Amino acid sequence: MSEPILRIENLSLIREGRPILSNVNLEIYPGQVHALLGLNGSGKSSLAYAIMGCEGYIPDEGRILFEGRDITHLSITERARLGITLAWQEPARFEGIPVGKYVGLGVNPPNRERVIQALEAVALPAKVYGYRSADKTLSGGERKRVELAAVYAMRPRLAILDEPDSGIDILSLGEIATLIRRMAIEGVAVFLITHRDELVESADLVSLMCAGTILFSGKPLEARRYFLSRCIPHLEALGSQPWDLSKPEVREALASNGLLQLMAQPGEREDGKEQAA
Ligand SMILES: Nc1ncnc2c1ncn2[C@@H]1O[C@H](COP(=O)(O)OP(=O)(O)OP(=O)(O)O)[C@@H](O)[C@H]1O
Ligand SMILES: [Mg+2]
Repeated sequence: MSEPILRIENLSLIREGRPILSNVNLEIYPGQVHALLGLNGSGKSSLAYAIMGCEGYIPDEGRILFEGRDITHLSITERARLGITLAWQEPARFEGIPVGKYVGLGVNPPNRERVIQALEAVALPAKVYGYRSADKTLSGGERKRVELAAVYAMRPRLAILDEPDSGIDILSLGEIATLIRRMAIEGVAVFLITHRDELVESADLVSLMCAGTILFSGKPLEARRYFLSRCIPHLEALGSQPWDLSKPEVREALASNGLLQLMAQPGEREDGKEQAA
């Protein structure tokens, strides 16, 4: 296997006295789709923001290496210059900019054909959408598609896609999965945050996130089995995250899954191996 383009080492983030991310270790490879699966509030978007260098998400501990270089304290602009990009879970609206222009913003040198190709790849015909304004008149699903087209068009080195499938109807998921695979084939390292089995199944590697920690990394089938057997029962027992760690019943439930120990003992686990239950 080639060298990872991104390596996250023992990353922790504490906000308002609460651990949001705890000892996250992760590697992402060029030409591969690495999916991150986790329940609401488990820390997926926070990890995406930390990788992108968003304000308020500079880690309290640990490092982020991009092509071997420590980028933990680089600004968002410097990271973007290195070729890291993020498609937001809730895409912004760019009042006044036509869709075609927005999709072409990161294409350097400018390439009209690439923009048309990107729009067609997300099933937004350039003739119909290219000149429309990227504003609130676009539906939620159309905005997600425009955002995805923009990321595809720019050919970043690392694309972080935060739930590209949210707001996309089930019949169109195949197109989104195809586009994500096309990105990887073009050499992009894709970090795909999703809840959907369909997208997870087409990933090369899947990591499971629970309460800010990566519980497991492995092939899609194994990850799915782990998720269903170990994470879902937690949700049933404890309700949605964030969990109040000061409550004895919460600590007990997490301890029974080895998660409490994991949060307490940084860096003592290897990716791809199950934790002691
Ligand atoms: N800046 C912050 N200050 C305080 N708490 C935060 C901050 N950012 C995130 N959180 C909390 O951290 C937890 C993880 O949030 P995050 O958005 O990363 O979850 P997620 O896994 O992306 O969830 P979803 O699937 O709902 O998108 C949540 O409980 C959230 O409220
Ligand atoms: Mg999120």
